[in-house]
Amino acid sequence: MIRVDHLEKRFGKKVAVQDITLTLERGVYGLLGPNGAGKTTLMRTILGLYKPDGGQVRWGEANARGSDFSFGYLPQQFMAFEELTVEETLAYFATLKKIPKSQRNEEVARCLKLVRLTGEAKKKMGALSGGMVRRIGIAQALLGNPSVVFFDEPTAGLDPEERMNFKMCIAEIKKQATVLISTHIVSDVEGICDHILILHNGRLAATGTRKEIEEIARGKVWVVPAEAKRESTEGHWHLINVYEQDGQEWMRVLSGEQLAEGKLVQPNVEDGYFCCIRGIGGESR
Ligand SMILES: Nc1ncnc2c1ncn2[C@@H]1O[C@H](COP(=O)(O)OP(=O)(O)OP(=O)(O)O)[C@@H](O)[C@H]1O
Ligand SMILES: [Mg+2]
Repeated sequence: MIRVDHLEKRFGKKVAVQDITLTLERGVYGLLGPNGAGKTTLMRTILGLYKPDGGQVRWGEANARGSDFSFGYLPQQFMAFEELTVEETLAYFATLKKIPKSQRNEEVARCLKLVRLTGEAKKKMGALSGGMVRRIGIAQALLGNPSVVFFDEPTAGLDPEERMNFKMCIAEIKKQATVLISTHIVSDVEGICDHILILHNGRLAATGTRKEIEEIARGKVWVVPAEAKRESTEGHWHLINVYEQDGQEWMRVLSGEQLAEGKLVQPNVEDGYFCCIRGIGGESR
């Protein structure tokens, strides 16, 4: 268990994250927020890669990081030595993680299989595609079966099949680990996260189960004919989606007010997320 208490991190005068209080237990947490919200900074501060400017992080009962806990981390910018092969790269990370030599090859093979790159083991890192490098990044985070794994935008650059495979990897490790996944693509975490944390301007705007995040948008999600929006001069419609159905163009919009031509529909997690970050209905802090 990780307890984060009034955590703050600044870069010069810029407050990147502030007043973050949360507890991470076993399970999968989705960290959602727009560009610059502070996701990377929060992850790195919790992991101890940045020194906090306020508050504290406690691992387990005491300040026990490194003793009772092993952790894996996929940085947003994962880089590796281009001249090393895939296999050598993972062996190198396994060494850094102090995985005993006798288990190293087996562990490298296991993690390569998880990201379905066994066939590329002998290839040089420099010869891999961007998405494949990302998958090696995921594999190195999983080496040694860590009890805490943080993935910073793991699905960036992955094709749909590999996004699905990533979800399957997570489903497999979630029983024995605490997993934190950052993204701004709600659909990437929607199906796999038990808990959702919404970060906005360095603060937690909302936390809850998927259901609870959906509920934030209840009574605020409308479907309106597209021309109604074009003719409207009102400024408090927040467009979520445009689509065609039955030969007509429709818009899915968020509004805290009654829309004369609109039909209320069931909210989803993305609607709740947008309500938080766009401050609709007073949910945003
Ligand atoms: N090393 C740094 N030096 C100065 N400012 C920084 C540094 N790292 C982050 N920041 C600033 O802190 C804020 C939060 O950045 P952070 O990278 O944590 O956001 P993010 O949510 O991960 O964004 P993205 O979705 O683009 O990855 C931003 O305003 C950013 O400019
Ligand atoms: Mg980031």
